[in-house]
Amino acid sequence: MQTRVLGTDKEGHGAAAAIWRAGGLVAFPTETVYGLGADARSDLAVARIFEAKGRPRFNPLIVHVADAAAARALVAWSDAAERLASAFWPGPLTLVLPLREGAGISGLVTAGLGTLAVRVPAHPVARGALSAFGGPVAAPSANPSGRISPTTAAHVLAGLEGRIEAVIDGGPCAVGVESSIVGLGGAPVLLRPGGVPAEALEAALGGPLARHEAGGALTAPGQLVSHYAPGARVRLGAARAEPGEVMLGFGPVAGDLTLSAAGDLREAAANLFHHLHALDAMGAAGIAVAPIPEVGLGRAINDRLRRAAAPRQAP
Ligand code: TXA
Ligand code: MG
Repeated sequence: MQTRVLGTDKEGHGAAAAIWRAGGLVAFPTETVYGLGADARSDLAVARIFEAKGRPRFNPLIVHVADAAAARALVAWSDAAERLASAFWPGPLTLVLPLREGAGISGLVTAGLGTLAVRVPAHPVARGALSAFGGPVAAPSANPSGRISPTTAAHVLAGLEGRIEAVIDGGPCAVGVESSIVGLGGAPVLLRPGGVPAEALEAALGGPLARHEAGGALTAPGQLVSHYAPGARVRLGAARAEPGEVMLGFGPVAGDLTLSAAGDLREAAANLFHHLHALDAMGAAGIAVAPIPEVGLGRAINDRLRRAAAPRQAP
């Protein structure tokens, strides 16, 4: 299969929608990372996402819709959902809510859970393509399972060229880490730190968020421990590179590439996956990473880095 590169204009949105209608796969930019989209109502189309990524079938997908009204048609809404959605949608937030009966979503999307993850992305190209399609689009990050997430169309092509119908090239993603995921089945719980800092979520909720317990049941399976993994070994909290390593800097610790010399966490998040891809391509045996503060977007950055550094699982 030849993977087409689509433009970000109306024609590109229309071409993406036509491929989705025909059961195909289109990668598209969101403000967080590139997603690999398919019609969320089609078992065959969704099955192709799992095949193209080599993703385990027990790991459910996020459904992307054009607006909150479309989300409310798919899940049982709540006051907490309304608060978070009105504060952060469109944007880098995913809500996990009870799936509505008859919502028409493929069982492969939810991996048989009774809940559905929904998100309204802010990126104008994502919104344009979703509006042109007019239905729910299931989309994990557009990378081979377990590898570094893509923040450019070139990253997508490097991992998936020939396995998907098309990618819309919308340039680099502004946020650079995936959406925050909040579970709202019971008391609100942060299932994955991401593009909206936990502190901001708690302020909007007017109360604390429980944190997902590591080692508990697999409720947010991005929680597979090894994830976002480059080919090189990753060493965290490093003051300098050892022989054989390249260095990813932050703040006062300069590197071969630096996430943010000014110590700005927003800039660091936007650069994270791009720099990991670039350092990995240098072919060093290891990547040493400067310490990143565990506040705000730093939590999402450190979460991804810890998974990148974790021992690899047997395939
Ligand atoms: O920013 C993002 O969220 C990007 C863009 C493309 O939207 N998407 C993304 O998808 O990061 P993915 O598949 O790489 O991560 C989705 C996470 C996984 O950890 C998955 O297990 C979790 O969402 N998830 C999906 N449905 C769930 C559910 N019903 N309950 C709990 N976790 C769920
Ligand atoms: Mg992913």
